[in-house]
Amino acid sequence: MKKLFIKTYGCQMNAYDSARMADLLAPLGYGAALAPEDADMVILNTCHIREKAAEKVYSELGRMAALKRQKPGMLVAVAGCVAQAEGEEMVRRQPAIDMVVGPQSYHRLPEMIARHARQAGHVLEADFPALEKFDHLPESVSDTGISAFLTVQEGCDKFCTFCVVPYTRGPEYSRGPERILAEARALAAKGAREIVLLGQNVNAYRGVASDGKTWNLARLIEAMAGISDVHRIRYTTSHPRDMNNDLIAAHGAIEKLMPFLHLPVQSGSDSVLAAMNRQHTAADYLSLIEGLRAVRSGIAFSSDFIVGFPGESDADFEATMALVREVKFAQCFSFKYSPRPGTPAAAKKPVPESVKNERLQALQALLLCQQDEANLAAIGKTMPVLFEKPGRIKGQLVGRTPWLQPVHVQAPQSLIGATRDVKIASLTANSLHGALVAKDVQTKSVMA
Ligand code: SAH
Ligand code: SF4
Ligand code: F3S
Repeated sequence: MKKLFIKTYGCQMNAYDSARMADLLAPLGYGAALAPEDADMVILNTCHIREKAAEKVYSELGRMAALKRQKPGMLVAVAGCVAQAEGEEMVRRQPAIDMVVGPQSYHRLPEMIARHARQAGHVLEADFPALEKFDHLPESVSDTGISAFLTVQEGCDKFCTFCVVPYTRGPEYSRGPERILAEARALAAKGAREIVLLGQNVNAYRGVASDGKTWNLARLIEAMAGISDVHRIRYTTSHPRDMNNDLIAAHGAIEKLMPFLHLPVQSGSDSVLAAMNRQHTAADYLSLIEGLRAVRSGIAFSSDFIVGFPGESDADFEATMALVREVKFAQCFSFKYSPRPGTPAAAKKPVPESVKNERLQALQALLLCQQDEANLAAIGKTMPVLFEKPGRIKGQLVGRTPWLQPVHVQAPQSLIGATRDVKIASLTANSLHGALVAKDVQTKSVMA
């Protein structure tokens, strides 16, 4: 038996791809290694979104090159978005790389390994045969866990001026609904109880069914909710522009669709949003939030923010702070703008680093405050928790509330995969702690 180690960077779609690569290589005799030191093959599944993310890959490659000197037979492959963006440059900089494979080509890994065995030098695949990829991936064989990712859409046509994704992942492509539903049923049969539908622009989903009809995301979610062993459904990441009325209505109508939505806004300033090519205003975003709250009370939101985008003034930044105060987010990610090669914004005059730092600090302090408020509000409440895995303390399980908050509870192992009502007692850092509610007072409701 050979051993495979995959290190994953970046977004959930990369996590999904890593699991698929493991599935793909299992028939070749590759089982999981716990560390690169034990592996016959190492895959770095990389992310190009910010400069730091890409830099990390090069330093990890340096470590892999050193390891390879001790284990000359070891294969080193680079996959993901850095591979797609600068694969050729990578092999020039780091000759220890045996294989480079882009996010749309990794179904060709078995063939690439065979080719590598026959010929000296590097094997490079970085086309966009997206239509082909999903047809060539085997059904998942890896353990899925209680919450499972399922990629339904890939790529992006939005071309936000700061972003590399349209270049690294290619144009928008949606998988057919029947294949997705079959994969969801297979995941549920393996024990998954929550399905997270993934796409770089997941709410732009437009899958063509075998009868030629086009399904939107709302229809796909409705069909998935019909799978009885799937208890919870989430989707990420959405673009405000594609948040259509069907999807908003689905949040009111489909109980299994969790009341938590990641809806990145990036900035609260209309002029920055325009310069970013986001194609909506701050008011458009606020009215979406209002519409969603109207159909599902208690729905919580998270977002991504970029501070220090070229041209962002103090007033622009204040508009972002004002939007945050108005929405009250449950959780957020915020980043300093990082110029990316080949993107339009990279050519613009940068905001000084010190200003970026100040703004990020101020924004993060506000967001943290809001996150604490959302978590503190849970104390004393009873909420349904889906148990996912054992906790670090003996006899403890870790699960999640419908709002994605982790909860630690003393509970028997047999409850992994089950949803039970938990009374929340306290908060430490980002975790809630609580106790199972006696069986006779349990309700089935997943709403607050
Ligand atoms: N498709 C998603 C985002 C994918 S990238 C969307 O449209 O929202 C995840 C996040 O990384 C983005 O939301 C953005 O906040 C951040 N990001 C992307 N490019 C960036 C850059 N050049 N500098 C800093 N942050 C960036
Ligand atoms: Fe990037 Fe914008 Fe596409 Fe999101 S919508 S992946 S931020 S280009
Ligand atoms: Fe990174 Fe590519 Fe995802 S750049 S965020 S791994 S789509």
